[in-house]
Amino acid sequence: MSELIHLEERKPLQAKPDQSSLTFGEVFTDYMLSFEYSKEKGWHDLKIIPYGPIELSPAAQSIHYGQSVFEGLKAYKHEGEVVLFRPEENFKRINQSLERLKMPKVDEALLLEGLKQLVDVDRDWVPDGEGQSLYIRPVVFATQGVLGVHASHEYRLLIILSPSGSYYGGDSLSPTKIYVEDEYVRAVRGGVGFAKVAGNYAASLLAQANANELGFDQVLWLDGVEQKYVEEVGSMNIFFVINGKIVTPELNGSILPGITRKTVIELSKMLGYDVEERRIGVEEVFELYERGELEEIFGTGTAAVISPVGELQFKGEKIVINHNKTGTVTQQLYDHYTGIQSGKLEDPHGWRVVVPHYER
Ligand code: COI
Repeated sequence: MSELIHLEERKPLQAKPDQSSLTFGEVFTDYMLSFEYSKEKGWHDLKIIPYGPIELSPAAQSIHYGQSVFEGLKAYKHEGEVVLFRPEENFKRINQSLERLKMPKVDEALLLEGLKQLVDVDRDWVPDGEGQSLYIRPVVFATQGVLGVHASHEYRLLIILSPSGSYYGGDSLSPTKIYVEDEYVRAVRGGVGFAKVAGNYAASLLAQANANELGFDQVLWLDGVEQKYVEEVGSMNIFFVINGKIVTPELNGSILPGITRKTVIELSKMLGYDVEERRIGVEEVFELYERGELEEIFGTGTAAVISPVGELQFKGEKIVINHNKTGTVTQQLYDHYTGIQSGKLEDPHGWRVVVPHYER
């Protein structure tokens, strides 16, 4: 049995939200995991504490220079057990993000153990409604209060938990409208596009708001050099079904290596599809549509799950994909993916990780 992490008890516990009206990321559980770093001590003081406001120096380097990285994963309830989905992948990726921002790496196994104990303490918060889960948000940020552009000597890691419904509101399988961004770019090779850093999301907000004003849900980013090749959507990786084959942009350093992306590629192969990871031009997408060869488009992400794209607009030209309906490939992948996550289907790869009941 693993050593128990210190728990600072919260009294009284909060009232739980009404499960029938859960939105995304607005309600938080009773506890969070906290870990601190200093140059002298390294990572230390791992503990579970009541969720709540934290103290931060107004000079904290994360606020001024953006040293902040995060992750997103989910826990599900199935037949009385709580399971995590491929959590080791998130801790592997957080280390890649940390390294890119010159932040100290974490012990992946220790953090996974910390997460299991945290989720165990808050297990009554895991919702079990259709499309609902406990969204898990690890975040690491620089806390040293000193001005000057250099890597901070102090950091804090928190894992917070939020019982959530669908990311886009309503049904995860309602087709989304996507605006192909032709002015701003998200990332360039050699930059931080492959890392899950807070700044990537800040940089996306203006284009996202402009697209929302025009009636679109999300922005599709093109490559930052030629603005010709498809990269990813605001909070998702993107996939195309072309003549029965599944095509997704290859990872090139500026695209986020999504864990749902990776899982969907593995699942698609398992289901017998040909999968191609390659460069795909936005003009090629429109040409394929004209020739009747573009059958479906969908996005993938932890928060967004598998989300069909119903409309795509580029430089004033709009195409409607699969009559704005969820396609059969998208539906099949969604059913398999969510079936394995929730425990309704077999898990041949061992992607589900059961959260143990710890004796406290
Ligand atoms: C996720 O899918 O978990 C994300 O982090 C995307 C978004 C909520 C920022």
